[in-house]
Amino acid sequence: MGRDVRDKAVAPCLKVEGVSKSFRVNRHRVKALERISFEVRTGEALGILGPSGCGKTTLLNIIAGFLPHDEGRVLMHQQPVTRPGPERGVVFQEDALFPWLTVAENVGFGLRNGHGKGDRKGKVERMLGLVGLEGYGRYLPRAISGGMKQRVALARVLVLGPAALLMDEPFAALDAQTRADMHALLISLQRRLRQTVVFVTHDLEEAVKLADRVLVMEKSPGRLRQEFAVELPRPRDLDSPEFLDIKRSIYGSLCGCGGDLPADS
Ligand SMILES: Nc1ncnc2c1ncn2[C@@H]1O[C@H](COP(=O)(O)OP(=O)(O)O)[C@@H](O)[C@H]1O
Ligand SMILES: [Mg+2]
Repeated sequence: MGRDVRDKAVAPCLKVEGVSKSFRVNRHRVKALERISFEVRTGEALGILGPSGCGKTTLLNIIAGFLPHDEGRVLMHQQPVTRPGPERGVVFQEDALFPWLTVAENVGFGLRNGHGKGDRKGKVERMLGLVGLEGYGRYLPRAISGGMKQRVALARVLVLGPAALLMDEPFAALDAQTRADMHALLISLQRRLRQTVVFVTHDLEEAVKLADRVLVMEKSPGRLRQEFAVELPRPRDLDSPEFLDIKRSIYGSLCGCGGDLPADS
């Protein structure tokens, strides 16, 4: 991506203002999120990092419009979010491809209405190329690897041209090499499409590798603890002193959050 956060258009794409959410569990109320506020600028990659159970999925589901919140507001281009919408594309950890549709049909699924057939085919082919799946359009999901399925899941969302791409630990189930390939793909897609991305992860290195800005969450209740700008050019050298420095600072912040972190972080 190699962009400087300060150079970007400053128009906020998404605003989360004082969002709180609690769940009722066995007659108790469990506070999952407490007064979460932040903004996402257009073209920015925002990483939300925190230990398991700190409310990352709950927060993303609220932004996606899948889950109502108790207090506060979520604004997408100044409009309150009340339900899912095509301007917020969601990629989950578990790919949810239709097993009976081909790769190309899966990618084109959301384009069924309002797009001419030729137009649709062209868009699907272009998107398959962008995610490195040219030539795989006629395959069924069962015939491709887990990493390729995640590429299809990404293509299926990106083909709709969402203003913001929301991702909930989308690479957590992949092996290390496939995950690294997906990181490289995301970095190149973001450079080409200038896609606004909000992703949640419990993986410190993933957050520092991909994000322009990292928000660290703490749990019980889920709150924002600290914010870090990652102003390093991409692709990032994971062994550079600058990368290790920022990783160390964020690790320090996370340590107080009750996170389970790898010993080498
Ligand atoms: N549908 C639900 N019903 C009750 N409690 C829930 C529900 N969803 C999440 N929680 C609770 O909210 C907290 C945050 O969960 P979650 O958003 O899944 O965290 P994370 O994604 O960071 O691991 C946890 O304590 C979890 O048990
Ligand atoms: Mg989660």
